[in-house]
Amino acid sequence: MEILEQMGAEGHEQLVAVSDNSSGLKAIIAIHDTTLGPACGGTRIWPYESEQEAIWDALRLSRAMTYKSAAADLPLGGGKGVIIADSHTGKTEALLRAYGRFVDTLGGRYLTTTDVGSTGRDLEYVKQETDYVVGLPTTAGGSGDTSIMTGLGIYMGMKACAKEAWGSDSLSGKTVAMQGFGKVATFTAHHLMKEDAKLVVTDVYEGALDRARDLGLAVVKPEDIYGVDCDIFAPCALGGVINPKTIPQLKCKVVAGGANNQLLSDADADDLDRLGIVYAPDYIINSGGIINVESEVDGEYNADRAREKTERIYEIMEQVLAIAKREEIPSAKAADRLAEDRLDSVRSIRRVYRHR
Ligand SMILES: NC(=O)c1ccc[n+]([C@@H]2O[C@H](COP(=O)([O-])OP(=O)(O)OC[C@H]3O[C@@H](n4cnc5c(N)ncnc54)[C@H](O)[C@@H]3O)[C@@H](O)[C@H]2O)c1
Repeated sequence: MEILEQMGAEGHEQLVAVSDNSSGLKAIIAIHDTTLGPACGGTRIWPYESEQEAIWDALRLSRAMTYKSAAADLPLGGGKGVIIADSHTGKTEALLRAYGRFVDTLGGRYLTTTDVGSTGRDLEYVKQETDYVVGLPTTAGGSGDTSIMTGLGIYMGMKACAKEAWGSDSLSGKTVAMQGFGKVATFTAHHLMKEDAKLVVTDVYEGALDRARDLGLAVVKPEDIYGVDCDIFAPCALGGVINPKTIPQLKCKVVAGGANNQLLSDADADDLDRLGIVYAPDYIINSGGIINVESEVDGEYNADRAREKTERIYEIMEQVLAIAKREEIPSAKAADRLAEDRLDSVRSIRRVYRHR
C-alpha cells in the first residue's frame, strides 16, 4: 500500500521525515491522532534495514499510542518517533540534539519520551533543544522510571481480571507464572508478594533469575513457563507469545502481563475467549507508563496523581470486560471499542464553536 493511502486508511494525520547531514540524523515522526491532545509516544532508536521499515513502524506504533492513551482516559493523542541508528554505537549528543530541534519545530503537536533504544539520559540532550519532552529522569525534574507505575497498573489490572474469573479480586494464594523478570515484572511481583500470591518465574538472563531466587521465588526454564500449573499467566518479556503454539499449553484462567503486543494475531484473542481464559488487553494493563509521563506534561511531576490515575486501570479493565461480555466479543476488541468510542465522542463536540 502507498504511504498516503495507508495513512488515510488508518487515520494518521502527519508523517515527518527529518535529515541532518552534520549529525547524521535520519528520523521519522508519525502523528496518528490529536483529537484528545498532543500526540505522545516514545522515540525508538533502531537500525532499521530500510526507510520503508522505519516508516511502517512509526505509523503502526503511533496508532497504538492513540488507542493506549484514549483507553487510559488521558488528554493525549498518539505519536511515535523513530531514529534510524544503532542505539549502542550511533547515539551522539549532536544526533539527539538535532532530533530535539526537529521535535521543537512541531510546536507541541508531538511530545516525545523514551522507547526501545532511548534512555532518560538521551532525553536530557533532546530537552536542551525542546520543551516537548516527557519522562525525564527524576534528577532532571522528570517522572523517572516508568516501570514502577507500569508494575502497579499490571497488579491492578490482574485484580480486575481475577474478579471476572473467580468472583473475587483477591490474589492471595493464586499462582502467577511470569515470563520475563525484568523491571516491570519485578515491580509487579512486589505487589503480588504483599498479597501472598505464589510466583513462578522464568527469564533468559541468569542475573534476573538470581534476583528471583533471592526473593524466594520458584524458577522454571523459559520453554516450560507456558505449561506451569497456574491461575494467571503474565507475559512480561516479549510480544507475540500468545499464539497457536502456546495457547494449547496454557493451564491458567487469566492472561495478564505487561508485555506489548502479546497476541500474535487477532485470532489468538478469539481462541483465548473460546477456552474461557480472561485476557487483559496489553495496552490497557500496561498503561501505567504513559500515565506516569502524562503526569509531567503540565509542569511538575506529581507522583500521587500518577499513582491515583494508575490505580484506575482496575476500573478501566472492568469496563473493557463488561463491554466484551455485553457485545459478545473478545476483550482485545472490547478495548479497541472503548478507545474508539472515546475518540468519537470527543470528536463530536468539536462541532460546538468556541471563541478563543
Ligand atoms: N517499562 C515500562 O514502563 C513498560 C511499559 C509498557 C510496556 N512495557 C513492556 O513490558 C515488557 C517488559 O519491559 P521491561 O521494562 O520490564 O523490560 P526489561 O528489559 O527490564 O525486562 C524484560 C525481561 O525479559 C527477559 N526476556 C527476554 N526474552 C525472554 C524470553 N524469551 N523468555 C523469558 N524472558 C525473556 C529479559 O532477559 C529481561 O529480563 C516489554 O514488552 C515492554 O515493551 C514496559
